[in-house]
Amino acid sequence: MKICVLPGDGIGPEIMAQAVRVLKAVHPSLETEDALLGGCAVDAFGSPYPEPTRVLARKADAVLLGAVGGPRWDSKPRDLRPETGLLAIRKDLGLFANLRPALLYPELADSSTLKPEVVAGLDILIVRELTGDIYFGQPRGIETREIDGKRQRFGFNTMHYSEAEIVRIGRVAFDAARRRGRKLCSVDKMNVLETTQLWRDVMTELSGNYPDVMLTHMLVDNAAMQLVREPKQFDVIVTGNMFGDILSDEASMLTGSIGMLPSASLDESGKGLYEPSHGSAPDLAGRDLANPLATILSAAMLLRYTFSMQADAERIENAVRKVLAQGFRTADIYRPGTKKIGTRAMGDAVIAALDAR
Ligand code: IPM
Ligand code: MG
Repeated sequence: MKICVLPGDGIGPEIMAQAVRVLKAVHPSLETEDALLGGCAVDAFGSPYPEPTRVLARKADAVLLGAVGGPRWDSKPRDLRPETGLLAIRKDLGLFANLRPALLYPELADSSTLKPEVVAGLDILIVRELTGDIYFGQPRGIETREIDGKRQRFGFNTMHYSEAEIVRIGRVAFDAARRRGRKLCSVDKMNVLETTQLWRDVMTELSGNYPDVMLTHMLVDNAAMQLVREPKQFDVIVTGNMFGDILSDEASMLTGSIGMLPSASLDESGKGLYEPSHGSAPDLAGRDLANPLATILSAAMLLRYTFSMQADAERIENAVRKVLAQGFRTADIYRPGTKKIGTRAMGDAVIAALDAR
Protein backbone atom coordinates (compact mmCIF):
# COMPACT_ATOMS: atom_id res chain seq x y z
CA MET A 1 0.00 0.00 0.00
CA LYS A 2 1.82 3.02 -1.28
CA ILE A 3 0.67 6.61 -1.13
CA CYS A 4 2.15 9.35 -3.30
CA VAL A 5 2.26 12.52 -1.18
CA LEU A 6 2.21 15.87 -2.99
CA PRO A 7 2.47 18.66 -0.39
CA GLY A 8 2.38 21.40 -3.05
CA ASP A 9 2.65 25.12 -2.39
CA GLY A 10 1.70 27.69 0.25
CA ILE A 11 0.23 26.03 3.35
CA GLY A 12 0.37 22.65 1.54
CA PRO A 13 3.52 21.30 3.25
CA GLU A 14 2.30 22.28 6.75
CA ILE A 15 -1.16 20.75 6.48
CA MET A 16 0.23 17.69 4.74
CA ALA A 17 2.74 17.04 7.53
CA GLN A 18 -0.18 16.73 9.98
CA ALA A 19 -2.25 14.52 7.68
CA VAL A 20 0.67 12.14 7.16
CA ARG A 21 1.28 11.98 10.94
CA VAL A 22 -2.38 11.05 11.47
CA LEU A 23 -2.29 8.42 8.69
CA LYS A 24 0.82 6.83 10.17
CA ALA A 25 -0.68 6.87 13.65
CA VAL A 26 -3.65 4.92 12.31
CA HIS A 27 -1.63 2.71 9.95
CA PRO A 28 2.09 2.52 10.72
CA SER A 29 2.64 0.19 7.76
CA LEU A 30 1.42 2.65 5.11
CA GLU A 31 4.25 3.63 2.84
CA THR A 32 4.45 7.23 1.66
CA GLU A 33 6.70 8.90 -0.88
CA ASP A 34 6.82 12.65 -1.59
CA ALA A 35 6.95 14.35 -4.97
CA LEU A 36 6.48 17.84 -6.37
CA LEU A 37 3.33 19.22 -8.00
CA GLY A 38 2.41 22.82 -8.75
CA GLY A 39 4.57 25.91 -8.30
CA CYS A 40 7.29 24.06 -6.37
CA ALA A 41 7.61 21.68 -9.35
CA VAL A 42 7.81 24.61 -11.78
CA ASP A 43 10.70 25.99 -9.71
CA ALA A 44 12.54 22.66 -9.49
CA PHE A 45 11.79 21.07 -12.87
CA GLY A 46 10.30 23.79 -15.10
CA SER A 47 6.99 21.89 -15.23
CA PRO A 48 4.01 21.85 -12.84
CA TYR A 49 3.57 18.06 -13.36
CA PRO A 50 7.08 16.78 -14.01
CA GLU A 51 7.97 13.27 -15.12
CA PRO A 52 9.22 11.93 -11.72
CA THR A 53 5.91 12.99 -10.16
CA ARG A 54 3.99 11.35 -12.99
CA VAL A 55 5.89 8.08 -12.57
CA LEU A 56 5.34 8.00 -8.81
CA ALA A 57 1.65 9.04 -9.02
CA ARG A 58 0.93 6.32 -11.59
CA LYS A 59 2.72 3.65 -9.55
CA ALA A 60 1.12 4.52 -6.19
CA ASP A 61 -2.25 3.17 -5.03
CA ALA A 62 -3.45 6.63 -4.06
CA VAL A 63 -2.34 10.25 -4.11
CA LEU A 64 -2.70 12.72 -1.24
CA LEU A 65 -2.39 16.36 -2.28
CA GLY A 66 -2.03 19.50 -0.16
CA ALA A 67 -2.70 22.56 -2.33
CA VAL A 68 -1.07 24.25 -5.30
CA GLY A 69 -0.68 27.82 -6.50
CA GLY A 70 0.46 31.24 -5.37
CA PRO A 71 0.99 34.77 -6.64
CA ARG A 72 4.59 33.97 -7.60
CA TRP A 73 3.42 31.85 -10.53
CA ASP A 74 0.27 33.77 -11.53
CA SER A 75 1.94 35.75 -14.29
CA LYS A 76 3.69 32.72 -15.86
CA PRO A 77 2.52 31.34 -19.20
CA ARG A 78 -0.36 28.89 -18.86
CA ASP A 79 1.81 25.75 -19.20
CA LEU A 80 3.93 26.88 -16.24
CA ARG A 81 1.08 27.62 -13.86
CA PRO A 82 0.48 25.42 -10.81
CA GLU A 83 -3.20 24.91 -11.77
CA THR A 84 -2.07 23.37 -15.06
CA GLY A 85 -0.29 20.68 -13.03
CA LEU A 86 -3.50 19.92 -11.16
CA LEU A 87 -5.52 19.62 -14.38
CA ALA A 88 -2.76 17.47 -15.92
CA ILE A 89 -2.63 14.96 -13.05
CA ARG A 90 -6.45 14.64 -13.04
CA LYS A 91 -6.47 13.92 -16.77
CA ASP A 92 -3.37 11.70 -16.72
CA LEU A 93 -4.74 9.47 -13.94
CA GLY A 94 -8.27 9.41 -15.41
CA LEU A 95 -9.77 10.89 -12.23
CA PHE A 96 -13.21 11.61 -13.68
CA ALA A 97 -15.29 11.44 -10.50
CA ASN A 98 -14.85 14.26 -8.01
CA LEU A 99 -16.71 13.85 -4.72
CA ARG A 100 -17.08 17.04 -2.71
CA PRO A 101 -19.04 16.69 0.51
CA ALA A 102 -20.37 19.81 2.22
CA LEU A 103 -21.01 18.84 5.80
CA LEU A 104 -21.78 21.21 8.63
CA TYR A 105 -20.36 19.99 11.93
CA PRO A 106 -22.78 20.81 14.79
CA GLU A 107 -19.89 22.36 16.75
CA LEU A 108 -19.34 24.84 13.90
CA ALA A 109 -23.01 25.69 13.37
CA ASP A 110 -22.34 29.39 13.85
CA SER A 111 -19.52 29.51 11.26
CA SER A 112 -21.90 29.91 8.33
CA THR A 113 -22.98 33.31 7.10
CA LEU A 114 -26.45 31.82 6.55
CA LYS A 115 -29.11 31.62 9.25
CA PRO A 116 -28.55 28.61 11.54
CA GLU A 117 -31.98 27.15 10.75
CA VAL A 118 -31.17 27.18 7.03
CA VAL A 119 -27.92 25.21 7.40
CA ALA A 120 -28.22 23.20 10.66
CA GLY A 121 -27.59 19.54 9.90
CA LEU A 122 -26.50 20.26 6.32
CA ASP A 123 -25.03 17.19 4.57
CA ILE A 124 -24.71 17.47 0.78
CA LEU A 125 -22.50 15.57 -1.64
CA ILE A 126 -21.56 17.19 -4.93
CA VAL A 127 -20.44 14.73 -7.60
CA ARG A 128 -18.54 16.74 -10.21
CA GLU A 129 -17.34 15.30 -13.52
CA LEU A 130 -13.64 16.18 -13.60
CA THR A 131 -11.92 15.23 -16.88
CA GLY A 132 -14.28 16.54 -19.57
CA ASP A 133 -16.44 19.53 -20.47
CA ILE A 134 -15.16 22.95 -21.48
CA TYR A 135 -12.15 22.43 -19.20
CA PHE A 136 -10.55 20.02 -21.68
CA GLY A 137 -12.53 20.49 -24.93
CA GLN A 138 -10.63 21.24 -28.16
CA PRO A 139 -10.28 23.54 -30.00
CA ARG A 140 -9.38 26.25 -27.55
CA GLY A 141 -7.19 29.28 -27.56
CA ILE A 142 -6.73 32.99 -28.13
CA GLU A 143 -6.03 33.96 -31.75
CA THR A 144 -6.05 37.06 -33.87
CA ARG A 145 -8.83 36.87 -36.44
CA GLU A 146 -10.55 39.09 -38.95
CA ILE A 147 -14.05 39.66 -37.55
CA ASP A 148 -16.52 42.23 -38.91
CA GLY A 149 -13.75 43.73 -41.01
CA LYS A 150 -11.52 44.24 -38.00
CA ARG A 151 -8.44 42.29 -36.96
CA GLN A 152 -8.92 41.56 -33.31
CA ARG A 153 -8.21 39.00 -30.65
CA PHE A 154 -10.65 36.10 -30.38
CA GLY A 155 -10.94 33.73 -27.42
CA PHE A 156 -12.67 30.35 -27.72
CA ASN A 157 -13.28 27.11 -25.81
CA THR A 158 -15.31 24.03 -26.60
CA MET A 159 -17.88 22.33 -24.38
CA HIS A 160 -18.57 18.68 -25.06
CA TYR A 161 -19.54 15.43 -23.38
CA SER A 162 -19.86 11.97 -24.88
CA GLU A 163 -22.63 9.65 -23.78
CA ALA A 164 -20.07 7.29 -22.19
CA GLU A 165 -18.59 10.11 -20.10
CA ILE A 166 -22.04 11.03 -18.81
CA VAL A 167 -22.98 7.43 -18.07
CA ARG A 168 -19.87 6.75 -15.97
CA ILE A 169 -20.24 9.85 -13.78
CA GLY A 170 -23.99 9.20 -13.57
CA ARG A 171 -23.34 5.72 -12.17
CA VAL A 172 -20.99 7.09 -9.50
CA ALA A 173 -23.65 9.62 -8.48
CA PHE A 174 -26.56 7.15 -8.42
CA ASP A 175 -24.45 4.67 -6.41
CA ALA A 176 -23.52 7.41 -3.94
CA ALA A 177 -27.17 8.47 -3.59
CA ARG A 178 -28.08 4.84 -2.92
CA ARG A 179 -25.71 4.81 0.08
CA ARG A 180 -27.12 8.11 1.39
CA GLY A 181 -30.59 9.71 1.23
CA ARG A 182 -31.55 8.19 -2.19
CA LYS A 183 -32.12 11.60 -3.78
CA LEU A 184 -30.12 12.75 -6.79
CA CYS A 185 -30.40 16.16 -8.44
CA SER A 186 -28.77 16.47 -11.86
CA VAL A 187 -27.78 20.04 -12.74
CA ASP A 188 -27.56 21.27 -16.35
CA LYS A 189 -28.36 24.19 -18.66
CA MET A 190 -30.50 22.29 -21.16
CA ASN A 191 -32.55 25.37 -22.06
CA VAL A 192 -29.47 26.78 -23.83
CA LEU A 193 -26.74 24.15 -24.30
CA GLU A 194 -27.11 20.95 -26.38
CA THR A 195 -24.26 19.26 -24.47
CA THR A 196 -26.30 19.50 -21.31
CA GLN A 197 -29.53 18.43 -23.08
CA LEU A 198 -27.68 15.17 -23.75
CA TRP A 199 -26.56 15.20 -20.10
CA ARG A 200 -30.19 15.39 -18.96
CA ASP A 201 -31.37 12.71 -21.43
CA VAL A 202 -28.64 10.26 -20.37
CA MET A 203 -29.27 10.82 -16.65
CA THR A 204 -32.98 10.17 -17.21
CA GLU A 205 -32.23 6.95 -19.14
CA LEU A 206 -29.83 5.81 -16.42
CA SER A 207 -32.42 6.36 -13.70
CA GLY A 208 -34.31 3.32 -15.05
CA ASN A 209 -31.56 1.19 -13.44
CA TYR A 210 -31.96 2.94 -10.10
CA PRO A 211 -35.68 2.77 -9.26
CA ASP A 212 -34.81 3.25 -5.56
CA VAL A 213 -33.18 6.67 -6.18
CA MET A 214 -35.34 9.72 -6.84
CA LEU A 215 -33.84 11.68 -9.75
CA THR A 216 -34.70 15.34 -10.30
CA HIS A 217 -33.23 17.89 -12.72
CA MET A 218 -32.42 21.53 -12.14
CA LEU A 219 -31.01 24.32 -14.31
CA VAL A 220 -27.70 25.56 -13.00
CA ASP A 221 -28.81 29.15 -12.35
CA ASN A 222 -31.74 27.91 -10.30
CA ALA A 223 -29.47 25.42 -8.50
CA ALA A 224 -27.15 28.27 -7.48
CA MET A 225 -30.14 30.09 -6.04
CA GLN A 226 -31.66 27.03 -4.33
CA LEU A 227 -28.32 26.23 -2.66
CA VAL A 228 -28.52 29.41 -0.61
CA ARG A 229 -32.33 29.52 -0.35
CA GLU A 230 -32.96 26.02 0.93
CA PRO A 231 -29.78 23.92 0.81
CA LYS A 232 -31.21 21.05 2.82
CA GLN A 233 -33.51 20.08 -0.08
CA PHE A 234 -30.40 18.46 -1.66
CA ASP A 235 -28.84 15.10 -0.94
CA VAL A 236 -26.52 14.30 -3.89
CA ILE A 237 -25.97 16.73 -6.77
CA VAL A 238 -24.36 15.54 -10.02
CA THR A 239 -23.09 17.97 -12.62
CA GLY A 240 -20.41 18.68 -15.22
CA ASN A 241 -16.93 19.98 -14.66
CA MET A 242 -17.59 23.72 -15.07
CA PHE A 243 -20.88 23.95 -13.17
CA GLY A 244 -19.45 21.63 -10.50
CA ASP A 245 -16.47 23.92 -9.99
CA ILE A 246 -18.76 26.84 -9.23
CA LEU A 247 -21.48 25.06 -7.25
CA SER A 248 -18.98 23.19 -5.07
CA ASP A 249 -17.38 26.46 -3.94
CA GLU A 250 -20.83 27.83 -3.20
CA ALA A 251 -21.83 24.71 -1.28
CA SER A 252 -18.60 24.71 0.72
CA MET A 253 -19.33 28.17 2.04
CA LEU A 254 -22.75 27.10 3.33
CA THR A 255 -20.73 25.39 6.03
CA GLY A 256 -18.75 28.56 6.62
CA SER A 257 -15.52 26.65 6.98
CA ILE A 258 -13.83 25.67 3.76
CA GLY A 259 -10.89 24.66 5.95
CA MET A 260 -12.93 21.61 7.00
CA LEU A 261 -13.89 20.11 3.65
CA PRO A 262 -12.12 17.17 2.03
CA SER A 263 -12.53 15.84 -1.50
CA ALA A 264 -11.83 12.70 -3.51
CA SER A 265 -11.19 12.35 -7.23
CA LEU A 266 -11.55 8.76 -8.39
CA ASP A 267 -10.79 6.74 -11.51
CA GLU A 268 -12.76 3.75 -12.82
CA SER A 269 -11.05 1.32 -10.45
CA GLY A 270 -11.21 3.32 -7.21
CA LYS A 271 -7.69 4.70 -7.34
CA GLY A 272 -7.90 8.27 -6.24
CA LEU A 273 -6.38 11.62 -5.55
CA TYR A 274 -7.48 13.15 -2.25
CA GLU A 275 -7.17 16.82 -1.43
CA PRO A 276 -8.72 19.53 0.73
CA SER A 277 -11.28 21.70 -1.08
CA HIS A 278 -9.47 24.88 -0.12
CA GLY A 279 -6.52 26.53 -1.83
CA SER A 280 -2.89 27.15 -0.90
CA ALA A 281 -3.55 30.32 1.18
CA PRO A 282 -0.10 31.88 0.54
CA ASP A 283 -0.79 34.58 3.17
CA LEU A 284 -0.93 31.92 5.90
CA ALA A 285 2.03 29.86 4.68
CA GLY A 286 4.80 29.05 7.13
CA ARG A 287 3.00 30.60 10.11
CA ASP A 288 1.50 27.51 11.80
CA LEU A 289 -1.96 29.07 11.30
CA ALA A 290 -3.59 26.88 8.64
CA ASN A 291 -6.33 24.40 9.43
CA PRO A 292 -5.09 20.86 8.66
CA LEU A 293 -8.49 19.21 9.22
CA ALA A 294 -9.61 19.19 5.56
CA THR A 295 -6.40 17.38 4.62
CA ILE A 296 -6.73 15.00 7.57
CA LEU A 297 -10.33 14.28 6.50
CA SER A 298 -9.08 13.78 2.92
CA ALA A 299 -6.74 11.12 4.29
CA ALA A 300 -9.80 9.48 5.88
CA MET A 301 -11.53 9.49 2.49
CA LEU A 302 -8.41 7.88 1.02
CA LEU A 303 -8.63 5.00 3.50
CA ARG A 304 -12.35 4.60 2.78
CA TYR A 305 -12.42 4.80 -1.02
CA THR A 306 -9.08 3.41 -2.19
CA PHE A 307 -8.33 0.88 0.57
CA SER A 308 -11.90 0.09 1.77
CA MET A 309 -10.75 0.64 5.36
CA GLN A 310 -14.07 1.93 6.66
CA ALA A 311 -13.25 1.46 10.34
CA ASP A 312 -9.98 3.36 10.08
CA ALA A 313 -11.62 6.17 8.11
CA GLU A 314 -14.23 6.47 10.85
CA ARG A 315 -11.54 6.50 13.53
CA ILE A 316 -10.08 9.62 11.94
CA GLU A 317 -13.48 11.27 11.36
CA ASN A 318 -14.54 10.56 14.93
CA ALA A 319 -11.26 12.00 16.22
CA VAL A 320 -11.92 15.22 14.26
CA ARG A 321 -15.41 15.46 15.78
CA LYS A 322 -13.90 14.89 19.20
CA VAL A 323 -11.31 17.70 18.91
CA LEU A 324 -14.07 20.07 17.78
CA ALA A 325 -16.18 19.01 20.75
CA GLN A 326 -13.15 19.59 23.00
CA GLY A 327 -13.19 23.18 21.74
CA PHE A 328 -9.94 23.16 19.73
CA ARG A 329 -10.02 25.55 16.78
CA THR A 330 -7.55 26.91 14.25
CA ALA A 331 -7.84 30.63 13.49
CA ASP A 332 -10.23 30.16 10.53
CA ILE A 333 -12.92 28.55 12.71
CA TYR A 334 -12.12 30.24 16.01
CA ARG A 335 -14.92 31.83 18.05
CA PRO A 336 -14.59 33.44 21.49
CA GLY A 337 -14.98 30.75 24.11
CA THR A 338 -13.07 28.13 22.11
CA LYS A 339 -9.35 27.27 22.29
CA LYS A 340 -7.26 28.69 19.48
CA ILE A 341 -4.39 26.43 18.43
CA GLY A 342 -1.95 26.18 15.52
CA THR A 343 -1.56 23.71 12.68
CA ARG A 344 0.79 21.33 14.44
CA ALA A 345 -1.13 21.39 17.73
CA MET A 346 -4.28 20.50 15.78
CA GLY A 347 -2.44 17.46 14.39
CA ASP A 348 -1.41 16.54 17.96
CA ALA A 349 -5.01 16.93 19.16
CA VAL A 350 -6.37 14.65 16.43
CA ILE A 351 -3.75 11.98 17.13
CA ALA A 352 -4.52 12.17 20.85
CA ALA A 353 -8.23 11.83 20.10
CA LEU A 354 -7.87 8.64 18.02
CA ASP A 355 -9.66 5.87 19.88
CA ALA A 356 -7.64 2.81 20.65
CA ARG A 357 -8.39 0.00 18.25
C1 IPM B 1 -10.92 23.25 -8.10
C2 IPM B 1 -10.08 24.40 -8.57
C3 IPM B 1 -9.47 24.02 -9.92
C4 IPM B 1 -10.60 23.76 -10.88
C5 IPM B 1 -8.47 25.05 -10.47
C6 IPM B 1 -7.39 25.38 -9.47
C7 IPM B 1 -7.87 24.60 -11.77
O1 IPM B 1 -10.83 25.56 -8.66
O2 IPM B 1 -10.36 22.16 -7.85
O3 IPM B 1 -12.13 23.43 -7.95
O4 IPM B 1 -11.12 24.69 -11.49
O5 IPM B 1 -10.97 22.60 -11.02
MG1 MG C 1 -12.79 25.39 -7.92
